[in-house]
Amino acid sequence: MDTIVVTGNGALNGQIPIAGAKNACLTLMPAALLSEDPLTLTNAPRLSDIRTMSDLLMSLGAEVTALKDGQVQAISCHDLSNHTADHGIVRKMRASILVLGPMLARDGHAIVSLPGGCEIGVRPVDLHLKALETLGAEMELKGGYVHAKAPHGLRGGVIDFPLVSVGATENALMAATLAKGTTVIKNAAREPEIVDLAICLRRMGAQIEGEGTSTITIQGVDRLNGATHPVVVDRIELGTYMLAPAITGGEVECLGGRRDLVAAFCDKLDEAGIEVSETETGLSVRRRDNCIRAVDVSTAPFPGFPTDLQAQMMALMATAEGTSVLEETIFENRFMHVPELSRMGAEIEVHGGTAKVTGVNRLKGAPVEATDLRASVSLILAGLAAEGDTIVSEVQHLDRGYEQVVEKLSAVGAKIERTHAQ
Ligand code: EPZ
Repeated sequence: MDTIVVTGNGALNGQIPIAGAKNACLTLMPAALLSEDPLTLTNAPRLSDIRTMSDLLMSLGAEVTALKDGQVQAISCHDLSNHTADHGIVRKMRASILVLGPMLARDGHAIVSLPGGCEIGVRPVDLHLKALETLGAEMELKGGYVHAKAPHGLRGGVIDFPLVSVGATENALMAATLAKGTTVIKNAAREPEIVDLAICLRRMGAQIEGEGTSTITIQGVDRLNGATHPVVVDRIELGTYMLAPAITGGEVECLGGRRDLVAAFCDKLDEAGIEVSETETGLSVRRRDNCIRAVDVSTAPFPGFPTDLQAQMMALMATAEGTSVLEETIFENRFMHVPELSRMGAEIEVHGGTAKVTGVNRLKGAPVEATDLRASVSLILAGLAAEGDTIVSEVQHLDRGYEQVVEKLSAVGAKIERTHAQ
């Protein structure tokens, strides 16, 4: 597999464009199943996960056309020839479960392979299934597949989630748009990707209120139309690149960045001594003075500190003055970047879901291995500030969520290159 070599090269300066949100696009694309008319998504990110979702939709009979090098995804689900999401595709990406709700709502039946866990945790889908049962679906698990039926269509109901789930909220929201009657989703996820999905569904003719709060109310309609919708900017890519000048010094403007999408994250950066200022075209980031202060972080559902930025923040804390405690409350195994950062000289002790990080003066470049999407980019960030070369292997994890990492970081002065395995 390819590797990426990063060489510590001092301060970074310049501009980095932020792409559309992977995690918004991965729910907006299956939303196209809710209508026989075409849905066109603009500002789509160019990522392997998006290509996987496209393959999945095409396996169901949809037509998906990537235009402008993948930044526009034109999806037509006029004729669905297949209602089974095959394990071969689903096992590659657990967001595949998001075709279940829309397919069920549209045609009254769907068979979807259980996604299985991934590197960061078991990641069950019980909340997705229970929510759809509340809307009248009959669920049966057979041979690793969910067989869902709603022969008389879905009907509105009150879904009260025992814990906040982004994906389960998305599945329930999409299904409810075509259910007969009113659906209320309580303890709904509040992530910006949910808000973006609601805006898109409303453009398609759905009747939705309350997105972005813990209670979303949906009045079912008979059909949805096509639409054109711009994918919201990626707050996780944004936060990731905001950490680049934080860890190296210098000043970088993240084009398209919006503070409201990363408010809790910005509060923590401020505590650590990083200044974030809003510009006409995005967010500009630099150190307030030459030291980074250790801060404590506890991940939480939006609007709290995002779990998807925990690994990246740990890279910064590894070079901060003092000791910080990072608590991961969402996933049970999201510290796989720790042994890799330790190989670079980071001093980190893990106790269950908590990591105690004692900052060191300078990390040392080393060969390290990417284990999951966000861990891989935390190693790149560490490499930007480390002495010498950091060789990151297994970078296919990176390609799932970050387009053009080498180009974007090189453009602001990083010494970084990708070597292609023979
Ligand atoms: C979404 O995953 C994101 N993925 C994840 O981003 C993100 O980390 C996560 O939300 C939390 O913000 C996409 O949007 C494609 P959850 P999702 O359901 O929906 C448990 C990345 O790096 N749970 O909010 O799968 C679950 O195990 C990825 O881009 C159940 O118990 O996350 C977890 O502990 C990684 N039963 C917690 O809830 C269920 O039925 C939150 O998971 C569903 C979830």
